[in-house]
Amino acid sequence: MEKLNSKNEKETFVFGENLAKKLTGGEVLALFGDLGAGKTKFLQGLAKGLGVKNKVNSPTFNILKIYKTKAGSKIKTFCHIDAYRLSSEKDLLALGVEEYFQDKNTVTAIEWAEKIKKILPKKTITIDIKHLSEKERAIKIK
Ligand SMILES: Nc1ncnc2c1ncn2[C@@H]1O[C@H](COP(=O)(O)OP(=O)(O)O)[C@@H](O)[C@H]1O
Ligand SMILES: [Mg+2]
Repeated sequence: MEKLNSKNEKETFVFGENLAKKLTGGEVLALFGDLGAGKTKFLQGLAKGLGVKNKVNSPTFNILKIYKTKAGSKIKTFCHIDAYRLSSEKDLLALGVEEYFQDKNTVTAIEWAEKIKKILPKKTITIDIKHLSEKERAIKIK
């Protein structure tokens, strides 16, 4: 397990960027943390680390959004899921999410992962972000 303390949003972004460099493809990242914890901020850094050029936002109204990474990299797609508005795992399964979970050339990250715990693969990496103060966050990766 890795424990990180973030003092500001930039640090959280950089922690995400650093994690991206350790990924090889096929990983599923499950993010836990309240509204405003910094889940999206972390994933914006992760996306940058993967070479995603487009801006990553909370896909609250999309549930699932696919981004292309840098041409030529082994990890070809970043799949960003926001499960907040889901009422059932079934809705996500209907979007074919299990194919992304299994794809060795994709990294998948899920905000509000508690909503879809039942369908998370065993290999899932958990990222827990907790508010310590207005600007400080405790981040655990395991
Ligand atoms: N240390 C920090 N890490 C991440 N975000 C922070 C931090 N300190 C303050 N913030 C602010 O908290 C908010 C986090 O938003 P966001 O990443 O969208 O959270 P979430 O996706 O978890 O709801 C942003 O407005 C950001 O500026
Ligand atoms: Mg978010």
